[in-house]
Amino acid sequence: MIIRCLFVFFGVYGLATVAAGQEAPESSLKTIMQELRNDAALILDAMLVDDMAAVADAALRISDHPRIPPDQASLIASELGPEMATFKQFDSLVHDLSVAIREAAGDGDRDRVQMLHRDMVAGCLGCHAAYRERVMMVLADET
Ligand code: HEC
Repeated sequence: MIIRCLFVFFGVYGLATVAAGQEAPESSLKTIMQELRNDAALILDAMLVDDMAAVADAALRISDHPRIPPDQASLIASELGPEMATFKQFDSLVHDLSVAIREAAGDGDRDRVQMLHRDMVAGCLGCHAAYRERVMMVLADET
């Protein structure tokens, strides 16, 4: 599963950058987050036009997001220490909610999609409130 996600992720980037004649950029937490933003916004957009298939597609991309590259993961782990468990819990929460969104969209249950999307965004913002700045600083020092 993870291998497949990485393959898809790098595959898409590879195509885009080959076309531009550049080296493929490294995956990073920031690029993962930018994809999450696109897909979270797409879910809202699809809800507004009642396109449950598009909701399900975007939710699947969120739940299958690539893993944080190992070098960044260890920087984050050394900064957060025992709090790494809480950081991971936020990730699992968002993951589980995106899986539930896909299932609810498949059932055509619009009320449930709406409720789960709200909870998922609360999970995004919860992690940001607790860790975004700290982790951003650590990763910015990386270069
Ligand atoms: C487990 C914690 C965690 C969760 C959950 C999380 N984020 Fe983030 N997010 C971060 C961290 C840490 C950064 C800072 C990364 C950096 O700047 O290197 C970040 C940065 C971002 C950024 C800014 C990227 C940029 O270009 O600077 C966006 C947008 C974002 N996240 C969207 C989301 C969305 C949407 C979700 C939910 C679907 C989400 N995040 C869930 C931790 C999290």
